[in-house]
Amino acid sequence: MRLLNEHDMEKDASLQGMQGKKILIGVSGSIAAYKIPHLVRLLTKQGATVKVMMTPAAAEFVSPLVLSTLSGHPVLYKLAEEDQWSDHVHLGRWADAMILAPVSANTLSKMANGQCDNLLLAVYMSGTCPVWIAPAMDEDMWHHGATQQNMATLRGFGHTVIDSEYGSLASGLVGMGRMAEPETIVSHLTDYFNAVLPLNGKKALVTAGPTHEYIDPVRFIGNASSGKMGIALADALADAGCSVDLVLGPSALRPRNSKVEVHSVVSAQAMYEKCMMLWPAMDIGIKAAAVADYTPDNVATQKIKKVGDDMTITLRKTNDILKALGHDKQSGQLLIGFALETQDGETYALNKLNQKNADMIVLNTLQDEGAGFGFDTNQVTIFTRRGERFESALMSKTDIAQWIVQKIITWENE
Ligand code: CTP
Repeated sequence: MRLLNEHDMEKDASLQGMQGKKILIGVSGSIAAYKIPHLVRLLTKQGATVKVMMTPAAAEFVSPLVLSTLSGHPVLYKLAEEDQWSDHVHLGRWADAMILAPVSANTLSKMANGQCDNLLLAVYMSGTCPVWIAPAMDEDMWHHGATQQNMATLRGFGHTVIDSEYGSLASGLVGMGRMAEPETIVSHLTDYFNAVLPLNGKKALVTAGPTHEYIDPVRFIGNASSGKMGIALADALADAGCSVDLVLGPSALRPRNSKVEVHSVVSAQAMYEKCMMLWPAMDIGIKAAAVADYTPDNVATQKIKKVGDDMTITLRKTNDILKALGHDKQSGQLLIGFALETQDGETYALNKLNQKNADMIVLNTLQDEGAGFGFDTNQVTIFTRRGERFESALMSKTDIAQWIVQKIITWENE
């Protein structure tokens, strides 16, 4: 399990499996309840909708006002409010996940034995979603046979007990019994929701950006690629649960998803070497980089001086990375190339599909208004080895990336 710090979580906001999930937190009477406002904040920052309920004793440890303000929903703790009945059945069914934290020894025991004398327990018993339990108590209570037996019972119900941690306790003693930190609780939930993402467990290699081919220490041959399309693809793949290695040529841009691992390279040769090293372990390869086709035969060690009226640089072909990956492709690996053409796009794209042993070629043509290098928008057509042809609308590169990832998900499921 990967522990996320708050900074990671902020960067990942709106893009992980937590987005839009409905989380119900149940707080019982323990000093560790002071950590719950932080837990609510971490979850809402990741895009979850959070509601909080508590036992009557919990309100002595943490203010319902703080929790209702942070969650944006009233905090529920009475089975009946004046003449209004709190609908525990619907609340239990509303949630995608229920986190009971902290859980006191008393509440733990009641849960294990089916007692139901407050709202939290009534909701817990009517809940149909997965349940996580983060106990908090003093060390001797933690080690007591009754507590251990209750936890075994709750595990037997299919709940996940997030073990308490070693550290200073409210009694002043040091030992087991501290409630797990909010970051740990969030990581449990993130792992759970990410596990149901469509590309969970898959690995992708993406290339993006231009390459720079140096002539001398201060000059290079490059191109106008910003890297935007490939970076958007890396983000979209990671959002879908994929683990992504991005081999990125000289670009000022970076992925927003902290799960994308960036390998910065400068030249076509360096990009080739990195890709060849990473490819055998990959499920998916996307070559969105604008790789130089030729590189200077010799790189001058000193700055070239201006002498004659003209100058000749001898160039030699670079390695075609897509072709090399296609050559080494194993069954089950999906390889996608890009084609940028100014004429006869479809013919060249289909040729590239065959010559490079790719499974898909994404064609974008500079002739389309608003598409390609330097633009925020793009319009592409995908040609597949299976003979399919998919045409996108003119969309932002982020939307195009998501559209391409959808095609990948469909491909992987067929
Ligand atoms: N490509 C590559 N290595 C190279 C050149 C290109 O991996 N040395 C990849 C690109 O990343 C892209 C695909 O090959 O996915 C097609 O690139 P493109 O420049 O359109 O075509 P080329 O194969 O270079 O052929 P041409 O320039 O003649 O169109």
